[in-house]
Amino acid sequence: MTGLFDSWQRQINYLRISVCDHCNLNCVYCSESSRINLPRSEILSNEEIQRLVQVAASMGINKVRLTGGEPLLKSDLSKLVRALSQVEGIDDISLTTNGILLSKYATELKEAGLKRVNVSLDTLKEDRFKRITGGDKLGDVFAGIEAAHLAGLEPVKINMVVLRGINDDETIDFARLSIDQGWHVRFIEFMPFGTAEAQAFETVPTQEMYQRLQSLGSLEPDSGQTGNGPAKYYRLPGANGTIGFISAMTEHFCHTCNRLRLTADGQLRPCLLDDDEVNLKAALRNGADTDELKRLILQAVIIKREQHHLNEGVTPGRRPMYQIGG
Ligand code: 5AD
Repeated sequence: MTGLFDSWQRQINYLRISVCDHCNLNCVYCSESSRINLPRSEILSNEEIQRLVQVAASMGINKVRLTGGEPLLKSDLSKLVRALSQVEGIDDISLTTNGILLSKYATELKEAGLKRVNVSLDTLKEDRFKRITGGDKLGDVFAGIEAAHLAGLEPVKINMVVLRGINDDETIDFARLSIDQGWHVRFIEFMPFGTAEAQAFETVPTQEMYQRLQSLGSLEPDSGQTGNGPAKYYRLPGANGTIGFISAMTEHFCHTCNRLRLTADGQLRPCLLDDDEVNLKAALRNGADTDELKRLILQAVIIKREQHHLNEGVTPGRRPMYQIGG
């Protein structure tokens, strides 16, 4: 067998990289009122990220996603995209963003080698956007989505984290946009994560969302090319766009997990929902050679857990979501 395999014979080929822990929003379930950002010196530089990706690519990583914080706050993000797109073995670079700055950067990112974007958007209502995110730039997010389409960053996927009593009454409106606008909408089950404040929301099970959407017509399973990640896709009658469900709580997909995560401060995290980390930054900054970096990456792969235990109340608390990037 070639490639990178963990102890459970899952092939690991996907690295998510948090490029900064700053954000221009402050979403209720991600951030916290006492948010403290890491000192700049703790954040990996473009060169350090590039070096790690080169080593990871030589071991079998071929897909990279840039996350944050909000990755577009990093003013030289396109430079990083360009550098990563030239790494041998990397054939897919994508971005997860809140969309606020996307209209400014979409074309430049596409030219640098970015393939596609996911935009996090939890409401279509201005007042609610303010309540959930603390920001008032909903119009900029819509403009960003439009700009991503125009730039050809396809497929553009819209991620909605569904929170009971907060935005779950909008699932039908979002689903309708898969027909009216051809959007690829993904409904994400809320996962309790981080501080008590960030965890104080109720998950809406996929099954319940699915039932509600039946009022728009029957959801046909979609075997198309919208994605090859954890979402299960469907299509409403007459829709150009798809509807995806990411059901980490009610139907976990750990057995198909193919990913590692690099935190903004250079810790390699085998599982989003487990606090184990391997310190790549220290190794990098202490002059580790390629073999040593490979050994550490392999160590992260070897300790990757079989599955998460959120449903048994085991919640990772070591660091907030905005240092990992979802
Ligand atoms: N549960 C589910 N999804 C979350 N995200 C951030 N925090 C959570 C959570 N606690 C989502 C973001 C983004 C993606 C990267 O992860 O909204 O779309």
